[in-house]
Amino acid sequence: MSSAEGAPLVLVSNRGPVTFQEDGEVKRGGGGLVTALTGLASHRDAIWIASAMTEQDIAVSDEHGGRPFTAELPDGGSYKVRLVASDPGAYDRFYNVFANPMLWFIQHYLWDLSNAPDIRREEVEAFEFGYNVVNEDLARAVLEEIDGQEEPVVMAHDYHLYTLPGLVRRERPDAFLHHFIHIPWTQPDTWRVLPTRIRREIYEGLLANDIIGFHTRSYQRNFLQCCRDLMDLEVDFERGIVFWHEHEVWVRAYPLPIDADATRAVARRPRTAEFEGELLRRRREHLILRVDRADLSKNVLRGFTAFDVFLEQHPEFRERVTFVAQLMPSRTDVPEYAEYLERIEAVVAVVNHRHGTPDWMPIHLKLRDDLEEAVAAYKNYDVLLVNAMFDGMNLVAKEGPLVNERAGVSILSENTGAHEELGEFALSVNPFDIQELADSIHAALTMSPEERKRRLEGLKGIVTQRDPGDWIDEQLADIRKKERGDGT
Ligand code: G6P
Repeated sequence: MSSAEGAPLVLVSNRGPVTFQEDGEVKRGGGGLVTALTGLASHRDAIWIASAMTEQDIAVSDEHGGRPFTAELPDGGSYKVRLVASDPGAYDRFYNVFANPMLWFIQHYLWDLSNAPDIRREEVEAFEFGYNVVNEDLARAVLEEIDGQEEPVVMAHDYHLYTLPGLVRRERPDAFLHHFIHIPWTQPDTWRVLPTRIRREIYEGLLANDIIGFHTRSYQRNFLQCCRDLMDLEVDFERGIVFWHEHEVWVRAYPLPIDADATRAVARRPRTAEFEGELLRRRREHLILRVDRADLSKNVLRGFTAFDVFLEQHPEFRERVTFVAQLMPSRTDVPEYAEYLERIEAVVAVVNHRHGTPDWMPIHLKLRDDLEEAVAAYKNYDVLLVNAMFDGMNLVAKEGPLVNERAGVSILSENTGAHEELGEFALSVNPFDIQELADSIHAALTMSPEERKRRLEGLKGIVTQRDPGDWIDEQLADIRKKERGDGT
């Protein structure tokens, strides 16, 4: 029985559903990928193979002899997980030198070419002795889990695992390999900064898949263009196919939905209500909100600068509006990220100093990852700011409107995957245009209640149309179609 027919799905990603803390506490993994896969794993019987990312993860993996175990999350949900511990030095090169920042930066147009991204031996070695080692370790675990299964289905996730499919394919030509990429796929020239050999290895690894999924049609198109221009391959744009040796690789768009029931359940938790109480006690007339990982791609600094400009140009809003920014520190061992956090704190200090009064602080910066606190704020914002420079999907743009109770207006960057679906009911912005951002804040805060309501209802309608069960079913349906040789 293949897993498209009901055997447990084998999922593999770098970050898993849980991370273990020093005190033994279990924490939910952060980011959009985990949100997507926890939704998926709760709709289907699945085993989730992931890297052991911290020392505690490694200890827990060792306790289970590197075998699968059931991880229970404190706030509900249990997942069959196998944590794979790689050599710490290799893992550091994989995560902190190659995957982030190199691949992440390329795939968000973040590399500053005028400042020469030098590729020296360290970066090349980070690929050979870091990225590839972790991919090999995870591939080995996948091969063990699918041993004995006929025509197994393996679903790999994201930019950490581009070489894994080739490794699995070599041992299991009968396996069905599916890969979902949660971040943008950028245009061909952006890939030219990588050494040619590394670039080839990445594309060859990926082309060992049967299906490659993206959030949007524009990433799908970019990938096809890259295969044509960088790999000299025949592609069919219309049908979404790359021809690779004897093999057809289907390239598809499956926009990720949110798990509305799960988010609503968080909105009802007592701890969420406590945060709400606190927020309401301190709220001014208007609340602007952003919730993000503290990542360069999220464009946090321009968001604060736009707020600064808005307050400058519309002094009548001083003391009447507060900007709450809940930012989760992320990848702090990567120097660019650590420095970004410092710059965020510095800009907040400047704006607060410039406009603040003894009893009004314009920006409240909360550097933490707290789901209930975020959802409490989702319920109460008047303006939700999602101004990422580029973002694969952005689930905040979907979760916020779902539970918002104040006819809150979404300001949404046109370079997020979510914009393809939500653009019609949001205030679309070019994330680089600070004046447009400032104007949008003003437009949102002065919009008529009817218009705000119309937009929010429109957003709620879209974000409740599909759920993660549908998302996985659409992909499984394509897997079955391709297995049967059913055209496209
Ligand atoms: C994005 C990526 C995920 C990643 C998440 C959190 O959503 O697409 O693959 O897991 O960010 O980043 P981290 O480095 O903490 O896993």
